[in-house]
Amino acid sequence: MAKHIPVRTMADVKEPLVLFLIGMRINTFWRVWEWLPSFLAMGPMIVELYKNPELGFLSARTEMAGRTITVIQYWKSFEALEAYAANAERKHRPAWTAFYKRATSGTGAVGIYHETYVIRPGEVESLYVDMPSGFGLGGAVGSVPVGPRTESARERKG
Ligand code: HEM
Repeated sequence: MAKHIPVRTMADVKEPLVLFLIGMRINTFWRVWEWLPSFLAMGPMIVELYKNPELGFLSARTEMAGRTITVIQYWKSFEALEAYAANAERKHRPAWTAFYKRATSGTGAVGIYHETYVIRPGEVESLYVDMPSGFGLGGAVGSVPVGPRTESARERKG
């Protein structure tokens, strides 16, 4: 059988962008009525964002770890993310208000969190070996083959 030559690529980060992690933790499983609405609120927002690329959203994927579900998102800028969150015409702002209504009448059965990171060229490194082309940061901004001058993590970051 022919030897497999692994395909190695890296994200082609040419301008700053944003990595946004958002998640929920189910603190009390049996209080389904407290955490289910937060769980159900996410899907329609992701659909809205994919349908409206002018909002500055690039891509998302969901990861589950124990009782915590995290959606990893890439955005064009912090300003675009902030504007979407505050836009009363979009699905997020009403969900924000509804969350606090539930939270203040509930018991803390669901926790939510987010973390925002600005990614800048020269300050980020990535490597994909035989991964689907749409995956991760490389999928969000486009990827290029790893070459003789980008063999190490330090060189790719450079
Ligand atoms: C695509 C999905 C989402 C995005 C991009 C997003 C983004 C954001 C951002 C950027 C903020 C900070 C706004 C600011 O302070 O200027 C925020 C706040 C908030 N979001 Fe979301 N969010 C998403 C989904 C959700 C969901 C599903 C819920 C409800 C379950 C939610 C509930 C909240 C709440 C309650 C706050 C206010 C937190 C506080 O300041 O105390 N978000 N969101």
